[in-house]
Amino acid sequence: MKISALLYFLKFGLKTVLLKKQNPLIGVVIVTDRCNLNCRHCSVHNIRSVCYPYDQIVQAMTALYNQGVRVLIFCGGEPCLWQDGEKSLSHLIQKGKSLGFFYINVVTNGTLPLNLPDVDLIMISLDGDREHHNAIRGDTYDTIIEHIRTAPRANICLYMAINRINQTAIPSVCQLTQTLPNIKAVSFNFHTPYPDTVDLALTQDEKAACCRTIESMMDQGTPVLNLRSVFPHLIANDFPRPCAQCVVVEDGRYYTCGRCRESPSLCEQCGYIFAAEYALAFQGNLKVIVDMMCTYLKII
Ligand SMILES: C[S@@+](CC[C@H](N)C(=O)[O-])C[C@H]1O[C@@H](n2cnc3c(N)ncnc32)[C@H](O)[C@@H]1O
Ligand code: SF4
Ligand code: SF4
Repeated sequence: MKISALLYFLKFGLKTVLLKKQNPLIGVVIVTDRCNLNCRHCSVHNIRSVCYPYDQIVQAMTALYNQGVRVLIFCGGEPCLWQDGEKSLSHLIQKGKSLGFFYINVVTNGTLPLNLPDVDLIMISLDGDREHHNAIRGDTYDTIIEHIRTAPRANICLYMAINRINQTAIPSVCQLTQTLPNIKAVSFNFHTPYPDTVDLALTQDEKAACCRTIESMMDQGTPVLNLRSVFPHLIANDFPRPCAQCVVVEDGRYYTCGRCRESPSLCEQCGYIFAAEYALAFQGNLKVIVDMMCTYLKII
């Protein structure tokens, strides 16, 4: 990590924890809601099936930077499908770098070639072994693995959303993380039950069992980009929300924490572990702060 980034994050943390500032640090830009898949658990794809214009996205990136955001995440729909005339996602990443963001990440389904030379981290959604993943995401597992194998850089983090279909498949994703050299780590979320996917929600007991499995995989050496110190709060469902340090922008609209806030009472069942992690750390939970610093410095 660059010294300038480290100093910025430390200053941001001190201002947030000690002075109770509520500024954002992580900005998620939804570049399109268009998608080439129709995953069983997803409620946010192909609603209008549009790619938002380049100028509008750059305006949002500039506004986020001016608000203090330094970690930028491109998401969708499928962000690798984004284009505006000659411009592709790579141009947005280059623009983000020139604006001064410290880290630029992309969350992708991995079905398209991973040709993103300037990106810092590629989060590839993988929802289990071949059988479980394909039951959720269609017949895409082999294509994704091939794209990971042939990726130009070792800057990939697997990203698994755990639900009732794939809750037993955590160890296989962890094992893959340790097998393929281009994979740096794995990160988990629990299913967040939008009204049309309530049947996939885990009970608190099931979440507790998943946390125990992840902890045991951590103990066996899997690099997991989640914080063990937050697991008790996920199981008790007592973490603060919304997370003021995250902001999501789609089509010129800004949402603190996530778009999911629009759906009544969804936050009460939030499965987004990163939101719990940031909310607890920036509220001043010392155990979580130390865990976050150790985990991020070790893996990223
Ligand atoms: C909406 S997708 C967009 C990016 C890309 N299309 C992909 O699948 O990675 C971003 C992430 O959200 C996850 N996701 C979708 N619906 C979810 C839900 N209801 N609860 C938790 N995670 C969800 C997906 O599995 C994916 O990892
Ligand atoms: S690939 Fe991503 S955006 Fe597309 S349906 Fe699946 S989870 Fe949703
Ligand atoms: S707490 Fe944040 S991430 Fe979780 S459901 Fe609500 S808006 Fe979404």
